[in-house]
Amino acid sequence: MSTIIPYGRQAITQEDIDAVVSTLTSDFLTQGPKVKEFEEKFALYTDSKYAVAVNNATSGLHLSVLSLGLQKGERVITTPITFAASANCIRYVGGEVWFADIDPDSYLMSLKSTKTLIESKPKGFFKGMIPVDLAGLPVNLEEFKDLAKEHDLWIIEDACHAPGGYFTDSKNKKQKCGNGNYADIGVFSFHPVKHIACGEGGMITTNSKKLYKKLLSLRTHGISKKDMSKNDGGWYYEMKELGYNYRLTDIQSALGITQLKKNDEGVERRNQIANKYKIAFKNKIKYQNLNSGDLNAHHLFIIEIEQRKELYNFLREHNIFAQIHYIPLHTLPYYKSIGYANVDLKNAENYYNRCISLPMYPSLTDKEQEFVILKVLEFINE
Ligand SMILES: Cc1ncc(COP(=O)(O)O)c(C=O)c1O
Repeated sequence: MSTIIPYGRQAITQEDIDAVVSTLTSDFLTQGPKVKEFEEKFALYTDSKYAVAVNNATSGLHLSVLSLGLQKGERVITTPITFAASANCIRYVGGEVWFADIDPDSYLMSLKSTKTLIESKPKGFFKGMIPVDLAGLPVNLEEFKDLAKEHDLWIIEDACHAPGGYFTDSKNKKQKCGNGNYADIGVFSFHPVKHIACGEGGMITTNSKKLYKKLLSLRTHGISKKDMSKNDGGWYYEMKELGYNYRLTDIQSALGITQLKKNDEGVERRNQIANKYKIAFKNKIKYQNLNSGDLNAHHLFIIEIEQRKELYNFLREHNIFAQIHYIPLHTLPYYKSIGYANVDLKNAENYYNRCISLPMYPSLTDKEQEFVILKVLEFINE
């Protein structure tokens, strides 16, 4: 193909452009009605009670650990196969990251590894866990919640890859990613390669009013006009705690609202693409598994292959820009330098040597996908 086929791409329509332009000519570029509207619509979409818009998901994760009270030296479990932000948020407050190994078939943080890790330490050793819906595949949070309850841990669901995904719980109920029924908090990203593009942006969801209020305060410097110790006049406000400016603008929220409207359609198209890959690769190439009754939101389509590097280079030669998700976090220079050099996470390391994410986005055409499939099969048959 003469044009590059990337692994992910945003889809911006005229409706998105009109929404942004109309916000640009309104009274509010930020802190106006679009933020609130986006939050309300997102809460409704995810079946959660509250949503707090933020300037990106990294800020969202930072505010999440802060609002849950994570302190310096306290320990939190996450997966090594994720974007750095899932672990970095623990480090921002001086917390200790503990990695649980992944499941070799779902590539998600393994319940068994997490349980073994928790049970190898005295009660109270860990404060929380951050499982990640990698590639859009929902973590079965009901199982993690049982474990968390037993050991008094909080859960942040890193749902950055998974708006619109769900798992089916033991009562046969669909549990949407970020709905807060089993996790304390869910966090989503609106970076352009994700489902909903805001340029930069993120959303925090929760069912806890207490956490919601804390998140709102921390998002805006800890400043409030409510419950003040005194009132000097109309201008007066109080800063009650140390917060940040992690706000999303109205311009971005306007885009988020129109993008959100199209998400179900986008997830459906992503699943059509995934099914076509699966049919083509069945019994030839290993891909991320899915439990029946669950819906993978398919931010990514990940396969495993022995000569991964060669395939990556081969695809590039044909203008197919596949990508690797992710380099295990404990092997990154920063994490190595703070003591993770000898951590033993075999499944994560084996996975990293073999994984590659193929193009996956709603506007990928049938012709483009057929070309990708052709080239992958050509490579493995060589
Ligand atoms: C799993 C995961 N968590 C967190 C983030 C951080 O998102 P953002 O870029 O919006 O800060 C990303 C972004 O790539 C991600 O993939």
